[in-house]
Amino acid sequence: MIYLCGNSLGLMPTSVRARMQEELDDWGRLGVEGHFEATRPWFDYHERFRESGARLVGALPGEVVMMNSLTVNLHLLMVSFYRPDGRRNKILIEDGAFPSDTYAVKTHLQARGLDPDEALLLCTPRPGEDLLRTEDIEDLIEENADELALVMLGGVNFRTGQLLDMKHITDAAHAVGAMAGFDLAHAAGNVRLSLHDWNVDFACWCSYKYLNSGPGALAGAFVHERHGNDSDLPRFAGWWGNDPKTRFKMQDIPEFIPNQGADGWQISNPPILAAAPLVASLEIFDEVGMEALERKSRLLTGYLEFLLKRSLPDSCEMITPEDPSARGCQLSVRVKDRPRERFDRLRPAGITCDFRHPDVIRLAPVPLYNSFMDVHETAEILGAS
Ligand SMILES: Cc1ncc(COP(=O)(O)O)c(C=O)c1O
Repeated sequence: MIYLCGNSLGLMPTSVRARMQEELDDWGRLGVEGHFEATRPWFDYHERFRESGARLVGALPGEVVMMNSLTVNLHLLMVSFYRPDGRRNKILIEDGAFPSDTYAVKTHLQARGLDPDEALLLCTPRPGEDLLRTEDIEDLIEENADELALVMLGGVNFRTGQLLDMKHITDAAHAVGAMAGFDLAHAAGNVRLSLHDWNVDFACWCSYKYLNSGPGALAGAFVHERHGNDSDLPRFAGWWGNDPKTRFKMQDIPEFIPNQGADGWQISNPPILAAAPLVASLEIFDEVGMEALERKSRLLTGYLEFLLKRSLPDSCEMITPEDPSARGCQLSVRVKDRPRERFDRLRPAGITCDFRHPDVIRLAPVPLYNSFMDVHETAEILGAS
């Protein structure tokens, strides 16, 4: 199969099976002793991702923790970073955000007694355009300077593949006294990120797309170091976010003492069997590095764009930005001439990608496992008359 659907669910690393088997063997062999005696002891399993998780998103070790699922992490982080205060209570998201994000944000507003019709601001592309302009986001932030509490946007948009200028958006949010957080579901493992240097307050992402860690995989959360040790921040706590030195002294010290950094946002002990594929995946990312991946990604996606424009000169419109620095690997292509018929040729030819009604085909050549031949063959089939 030619698999161009890594924006939805990444392929399984061949080493996953062995990593999972090791955990099963340790569980079978050691039972509860595995917490301290397993090959990778379960007690501090999440610390395995401390450095590699941080490298992925341009964070400092300690600013990233891998836990839960994406929307769960978004909820947990909004408990801390959405702090409505009088008139300053609005949240800005993009119009047509991923539905789960919209649900999360709206229910946070409702949970604080606010009406989403009044407190939710939507950033929309200009009439006739598909993409958001940074200056329009900045203008909306400015216009709501006194009322904005939080800007929460998708770093790479799931429909258009547009990569937002997170640094400038974060600066604009901070300039009016608001927080800035990002959903990086389509960005992590796809584009190079510098969350620490961009001063982003928080971010969350899933690991089942470009991070190839399996359906429903363990997700990621980033908390900037300037917030990480602020024990006054409200949060929903659980024992795994407690200082590990006193984690098992619960009866003696009933008070929650948050662990330092992003680790302090954990709630439960991590699901080891779900975390093992992430170990396998991040070994690969560590071996290759985001820099090399981005280099190949730009060539691969640029080649696909070139071939599609050549084979469908009058019939394809790139929704995704043409500037390689404003996108990741995904191309969202609006096909004017028989879009569904052209898409339906792909599956029988062994090509997997997806279709967004009524006329958009999303193709994501992933540098880790797609080749230039994959891209060439796909364009030939799509472009045939
Ligand atoms: C942009 C974006 N946000 C949120 C989600 C929801 O993720 P989860 O079901 O892992 O919470 C997805 C899932 O594909 C997504 O693409």
